[in-house]
Amino acid sequence: MNKFETWLLDRTKVANSHTLAVYKQLGGYHALAKVLTGAKPMTPAEVINEMKLSEIRGRGGAGFPTGMKWTFMPDPVKDPRPRYLAINADESEPGTCKDRVLMEKDPHGLVEGALIACYAMRAQAAYIYVRGEYRLSYQRVQAAIDEARAAGLVGKNILGTDFSCEVHMHKGAGAYICGEETGLMESLEGKRGHPRPKPPFPAAFGLWGQPTTVNNVETIFNVPFIVLRGGAWHASIGTKGSKGNFLCGISGHVEKPGVYELPFGVTAREIVEQVAGGVWKGRKCKAWFPGGSSCAMVKGEDLDVVLDHDSLKTKGSSLGTAAMIIFDDQTSIARVMEIIARFYDHESCGQCSQCREGTQWLSQIFHRIATGHGQEDDVATIESLAKGMAPGKTICALSDAAAIPTLSAVRLFKDELLECVRQKRDPIPYPRVEYAGAH
Ligand SMILES: Cc1cc2nc3c(=O)[nH]c(=O)nc-3n(C[C@H](O)[C@H](O)[C@H](O)COP(=O)(O)O)c2cc1C
Ligand code: SF4
Repeated sequence: MNKFETWLLDRTKVANSHTLAVYKQLGGYHALAKVLTGAKPMTPAEVINEMKLSEIRGRGGAGFPTGMKWTFMPDPVKDPRPRYLAINADESEPGTCKDRVLMEKDPHGLVEGALIACYAMRAQAAYIYVRGEYRLSYQRVQAAIDEARAAGLVGKNILGTDFSCEVHMHKGAGAYICGEETGLMESLEGKRGHPRPKPPFPAAFGLWGQPTTVNNVETIFNVPFIVLRGGAWHASIGTKGSKGNFLCGISGHVEKPGVYELPFGVTAREIVEQVAGGVWKGRKCKAWFPGGSSCAMVKGEDLDVVLDHDSLKTKGSSLGTAAMIIFDDQTSIARVMEIIARFYDHESCGQCSQCREGTQWLSQIFHRIATGHGQEDDVATIESLAKGMAPGKTICALSDAAAIPTLSAVRLFKDELLECVRQKRDPIPYPRVEYAGAH
């Protein structure tokens, strides 16, 4: 792999990187100063323009162009309602753990990004919705907000200008559905995290019915870098349609699981073999998820695909959260799918019948296939159930998230699933001692 420029994780390697003192030593809050009090202060429209030029796409899973999303906020002259930024730090997609690193090790980067994003969209406040289990993330980001407030960087008349902005934290309670943007807003408002039907979209009717933009932590974290170095700089890195660097969390059967910063354009094989130390125990890769369990699974022989938004489509999958999950050649696909289906069954909010019933049936059927109680038509039933659950037939995309990996497992490993049913047992031995945490 060629040498490449990094920025996302650079500060995290420095001791006490979470403190304001170290953050400032490393150039922190220079981007905010450039925007507000630089020799030529930037207008909100100029900040949005840089975001558009950067061609950055959201890092929360859907890959929506961020600059374009910010322009959906209504004109403040025509629509003077209060407006908000909601930062999605729920990070519950299985395999995904990148936002946590940023929040724990570089929380001021997120706060600075939030302030600039609020300025650009003329939002009065940012709300950071943090996954409940992320206690250290919560503490570190809250401490960063407190430090920034004491230094005149959060609150009224920031850096002596007429720009005022609050940053608030909100703790989730461990529900995957509260990472879906409208479920997140309902939860933030103190209600049950039930996604809302769209339209209306958050830019028109978001938090408390006011214009709101929802962005992922890593997306917002990129903002100060884009402001300082320019949108063109960001757009010069990566591949067509996928610009910049991304945080790749790689887990499963690799020697060195972790969160790594990489430029778009690297192949999955380079990541597995050169970054993550290869498939563990010298084994081969049987299958992998490119970006969390909501993507379609890809075969191990397709590791040479480039990890970006467009290239993965050629393998019937998508980038998702760039959280690669690697399965070695001794993995049972029936058991992988049993676990995944149980997750979606547990996390469905139950509002839509396809999702409520479908996730439950998928979970039950994968369980019986994996435990040797599969019935003759089970694989066909799974396929037809999943086809009925996706795409776009429900209030939110959780139903699709359950259906997509299911359909990929049937497409790629139908014979293996059928064999479990035929033999009335999973032919792949259960490798108890090989799972981390197993005793
Ligand atoms: C079931 C479900 C769970 C989601 N969980 C998260 C999450 O934990 N974090 C996140 O950033 N986006 C999550 N999303 C995507 C968000 O709805 C939204 O697209 C994203 O926060 C937008 O940020 P971005 O444009 O910066 O990517 C989830 C979506 C669905 C359907
Ligand atoms: S698709 Fe599932 S999780 Fe989403 S709103 Fe409907 S029932 Fe709830």
